[in-house]
Amino acid sequence: MEEAVPEQPPVAEEQHPKAPELPAAEVEPPAPVVETPAPVAEVEAPKVVTPSPAPEASSSDSEDSGRMKASDLLTPSRQDLFVPAPAAEVPTKKAEVIAFANQKGGVAKTTTTLNLAVAFAESGYRVLCVDLDPQGNLTMSQGIDPDKVEKSLYDTLVHDMPISEIIVKREIDIAVASIDLAGAEIAMSTKIGRERSLEKALKEVAGDYDYVCIDTPPSLGLLTINALTAANKVIVPVQCEYLSMRGLVQLQNTLRMIQENLNPDVKIEGILPTMLDTRTVHAKEAVEILEENFGDLVFQSRIKKAIKFAEAPVKGASVLKYDPESNAASYYRDLAKEVLANESA
Ligand SMILES: Nc1ncnc2c1ncn2[C@@H]1O[C@H](COP(=O)(O)OP(=O)(O)OP(=O)(O)O)[C@@H](O)[C@H]1O
Ligand SMILES: [Mg+2]
Repeated sequence: MEEAVPEQPPVAEEQHPKAPELPAAEVEPPAPVVETPAPVAEVEAPKVVTPSPAPEASSSDSEDSGRMKASDLLTPSRQDLFVPAPAAEVPTKKAEVIAFANQKGGVAKTTTTLNLAVAFAESGYRVLCVDLDPQGNLTMSQGIDPDKVEKSLYDTLVHDMPISEIIVKREIDIAVASIDLAGAEIAMSTKIGRERSLEKALKEVAGDYDYVCIDTPPSLGLLTINALTAANKVIVPVQCEYLSMRGLVQLQNTLRMIQENLNPDVKIEGILPTMLDTRTVHAKEAVEILEENFGDLVFQSRIKKAIKFAEAPVKGASVLKYDPESNAASYYRDLAKEVLANESA
């Protein structure tokens, strides 16, 4: 800095890159020293009146058409800042995220998550299943042993591992569960933003899928709360028995809390009567009670009892793959059509 003041003309020269002048400079080394004072003196006439070093740059700027300007070196131009913009603004369609929830056990949450997901895939949609249940039943239903899984949703939820690293490709893509997912709720309990861990993780792959189907455990704990916070829609499988329906009020209360505090947009897509035994009066009455209490929220589709649903997971397959022509497979194809029709309506 101290040197710059007494040697203003030479310093102005030094601040310009030599590149444009190389031919002249190489042939006649002293030439710039001789030539520059004249124009600089002309333009810098006012500089004598104002001895600040600032005019150095502007003085030579005005005369140099081919040179890089000193101001370019000191500050980035607006053009430099605009370059990377377009990529970030390309709109991508985000996946529809559906959580399958009911804190009651054994009501066909896992069966519905997998078979509806496969029915979507059959219709040409890109589908990801998320096995958020430490029991790992969905993972097992696709022939993967949760005890042998090395990277799972535990790593994603607890250690923020990218979800793409734990996705395994089968009939559909699955973000797999492992046995240690049982410890995830405790491990996450001190984490800031613990209710949003799954929502955050899914952002990475939201553009890669049309549907994300989340299977949840039979509880309303932190894992289920993560699912409901990440979801746009909730499908509630209900076994057609009177006692199974009592828990729905509790589920609705939890959902209301989620809407108020974490995810105002989540809504119940539908209540799905499952394991329906059409021969019994009790099952028919149970469906009537559902419809009286929840009206249009009850799907038109009915999932009837069928032994194929117990057989397919043993083969590591959905019912749609295990026996594509079966009635059991058609129940979930019909449900897929109904969900897709509701969406377009
Ligand atoms: N429509 C059906 N007919 C006959 N059996 C069925 C039907 N749907 C599911 N099942 C069987 O009922 C059992 C429970 O189903 P599933 O595991 O899907 O329930 P879940 O709600 O996920 O249970 P959990 O709460 O333990 O996670 C399974 O053995 C499954 O094969
Ligand atoms: Mg299950």
